[in-house]
Amino acid sequence: MSLAGPEPEVLVIGGGAAGLMCALTAGRRGRRVRVLEHANRCGKKILMSGGGRCNFTNTGTTPANFLSANPHFCKSALARYRPGHFIDMVDAHGIAWHEKELGQLFCDESSKQIVAMLLAECADAGVVVETSCTIESVAGLPGGGFRLQTSRGRQDAASLVVATGGLSIPKMGATGLGYELARQFGHAVLPTRAGLVPLTLSGKHLEHYADLAGVSVHVSARCGKARFDNAMLVTHRGLSGPAILQVSSYWEPGKELLLDLLPEHDIQAWLLERQREQPAAELRTVLADVFPKRFAQRLCETWLTSKPMRQFSHGELPAIARQLAHWPIVASGTEGYRTAEVTLGGVDTDGLSSSRMESNIVPGLFFIGEVVDVTGWLGGYNFQWAWASGHAAGLAA
Ligand code: FDA
Repeated sequence: MSLAGPEPEVLVIGGGAAGLMCALTAGRRGRRVRVLEHANRCGKKILMSGGGRCNFTNTGTTPANFLSANPHFCKSALARYRPGHFIDMVDAHGIAWHEKELGQLFCDESSKQIVAMLLAECADAGVVVETSCTIESVAGLPGGGFRLQTSRGRQDAASLVVATGGLSIPKMGATGLGYELARQFGHAVLPTRAGLVPLTLSGKHLEHYADLAGVSVHVSARCGKARFDNAMLVTHRGLSGPAILQVSSYWEPGKELLLDLLPEHDIQAWLLERQREQPAAELRTVLADVFPKRFAQRLCETWLTSKPMRQFSHGELPAIARQLAHWPIVASGTEGYRTAEVTLGGVDTDGLSSSRMESNIVPGLFFIGEVVDVTGWLGGYNFQWAWASGHAAGLAA
């Protein structure tokens, strides 16, 4: 039995951000497109994104905002589908939006508007969307094209687009099908791991921080050459907040992770000035001017000594300044896919055309979105990659 309706030319597995963008783009070209989504509705990650308001793009998107074994791969698709293109679609649908910070655009009202917009564009382009459809098997046909066995019957098409996303938040419908299909058709899959994810601490490292849960400090978090200035939030299990989520994508066990706890200060000059201005004040009181009080107190109790500023020798304050600027974090791991926003690694870009997102091994097979080894920073970059890669494949499939 095959699915009802005319035979599609393009089958898209996954009705998320990238899959819907690809489908509407191919549909507008007059291609007969069908989206097969195993969840009971499309775009669940869009719905939960940006705290329910979907940070749908970043106006400052450049290839430097992405991690990939091949940092050049994302350039072509990003250059041809820019944040302005998506903003035009959002505006055409009358969806109000605002810039929060650093080029991050959010809906004023709800992420639901973005899903509704994509589905309306798909419907307008004649795309058929099947939800609650499980993919049982996928095979290449001898003369080209693909045959899918699904819970809703058999389906053949000349082009197959894999848009199944990454492994994060399994309860939202994430599966490893995209990686399995890549391997089945001869593609390499680079090791995957959770990205944009809180870090966990253990043992004495956790003890030092855990009762500060809820405290937020502006830091610069560094791992290798990556550096992110933003808020760090102490949690019951470790550290989170935008600076930590960003740097988590660069961190792996064994890699050094350092914080500059006062990135906006010349700490040494500031401490020496405080010594002159407030000689009788204790260090913890001085630090409470720039840190939350509990945090300043903990710094002094656990790592530094607190005494009146006048009692610090000339060598001691510069040493404290160095310590505050190179604060080591010994993470035991990450919170994993349960809470990660993205999956790093994935389908090796070596096997794909960067302009079409098509397989170099199997003509007619495409991989787009997060399943590919291209991962953005926090701040709307991952959706911009989903739109851009979906658009590129939609023009080619
Ligand atoms: P996406 O996950 O969107 O879609 C994949 C689709 O495939 C899903 O509908 C899934 O159900 C379906 N699927 C999976 N396996 C299947 C199978 N076996 N058969 C059929 N269908 C299958 N990014 C950003 O830029 N701004 C933001 O504000 C946020 N916020 C955010 C919050 C949270 C909590 C998370 C987890 C993630 C974000 N992100 C984000 C990241 C962003 O959601 C993500 O990068 C994109 O949704 C990726 O788009 P894709 O289409 O590749 O995957």
